[in-house]
Amino acid sequence: MINTQDKHLQKMIRLLTTAAANSALYNPEHRQVLRLNKQALNELQQLFNLHGNVTLKVIDEKLIFSNQPVENNLAVERLLDALAKNGISHLQIDPGVYAEELLGLINILSKSPDKQIDIKNSENIHYGQIEIRYKDAGSKQFSGLDLAEIADYEADRFMDIYQSVRNKQKLEMSGINEIVDGFVNAFNSQSDAFMAIAPLRSMDEYTYTHSTNICMLNLAQAKVLGIEGQLLNDIGIAAMLHDVGKMFISPEILSKSGQLDQKEWEIMQQHPRLGAEYLLNTPGVPRLAVVTAFEHHMRYDKAGYPQTSRPWKQHICSHITAISDTYDAMRTHRAYEESLEIEQIISVMLDLAGNKLHPQLTYSFLQVLSELDKKNEPSNYTTL
Ligand SMILES: [Fe+2]
Ligand SMILES: [Fe+2]
Repeated sequence: MINTQDKHLQKMIRLLTTAAANSALYNPEHRQVLRLNKQALNELQQLFNLHGNVTLKVIDEKLIFSNQPVENNLAVERLLDALAKNGISHLQIDPGVYAEELLGLINILSKSPDKQIDIKNSENIHYGQIEIRYKDAGSKQFSGLDLAEIADYEADRFMDIYQSVRNKQKLEMSGINEIVDGFVNAFNSQSDAFMAIAPLRSMDEYTYTHSTNICMLNLAQAKVLGIEGQLLNDIGIAAMLHDVGKMFISPEILSKSGQLDQKEWEIMQQHPRLGAEYLLNTPGVPRLAVVTAFEHHMRYDKAGYPQTSRPWKQHICSHITAISDTYDAMRTHRAYEESLEIEQIISVMLDLAGNKLHPQLTYSFLQVLSELDKKNEPSNYTTL
């Protein structure tokens, strides 16, 4: 069981790495960075209350806190990576650390190794350095963030936003807008829209990552259909928020490994309605996001949920989202099922075209997918 200390430590690491990611993506003074920095400082205070100071060491590529290895996850890996790139083997943060000092640490963590940065101890933060070695120098380019990295960063940031919904706080629409703007810009700089979805991720934090995956898949589909401008952004925003209703479903049901029983399934089926109601009452949410949250499980043949008592015409964005959703569910490894090979995915989606999924949109999706498949090296198949 996770204890209070681990909880604060994990949260602090997640906030710091997310702040560093945002700092790299936007700028070190971005208000999102400042907000995360403040939250990280709060978590540090909790740790100081339990511990005196906070010392993190890297031993054998593992993060050690209080003589114990820290449980590994995406944020811890990211911290280890950033520390390694800067040659930091030891980090000590003393009580009394203030916001500007912590921002200095975030700045170091956010730097690419191609940028030289002087790592100097500050009043309450001390760095132990080893000679810098790059594990795979030359094989990786750091000249700019690619879509895969943006997806990683934004998944973290989105996790924060989603978490605040679960905690009954207001949805931060400006954050969602910025995330989608980042994706749209990244897409616009790609010559081939569908090449951009190659780096889709499958990770543990399913719902969060799922939403960023759906966003990229929706944008790719919309771009192929020639959709641009505000509608393109709205389709991306709708994707990010399509499953927001899941935040009102208990985590036990959401993360249950195995089939849901009848009662649990009925509860799960409430998420489109709950999401739509929530979004309807949230200022700044595009109407399309409300509609998509409500309709994304209706199915093309309307045999899905929710059922409506009167004739209903679904928005194209809901059809697009259902296609993205189906594809992502099949290609993402979940605890209780194996992810499928691309050939199997294509064959299942062809079977679903015309009943669960909109046929023409599905053919268009698969057409580009198979082109992408041809262009990719065999080693990239697993990332599809
Ligand atoms: Fe859903
Ligand atoms: Fe979904």
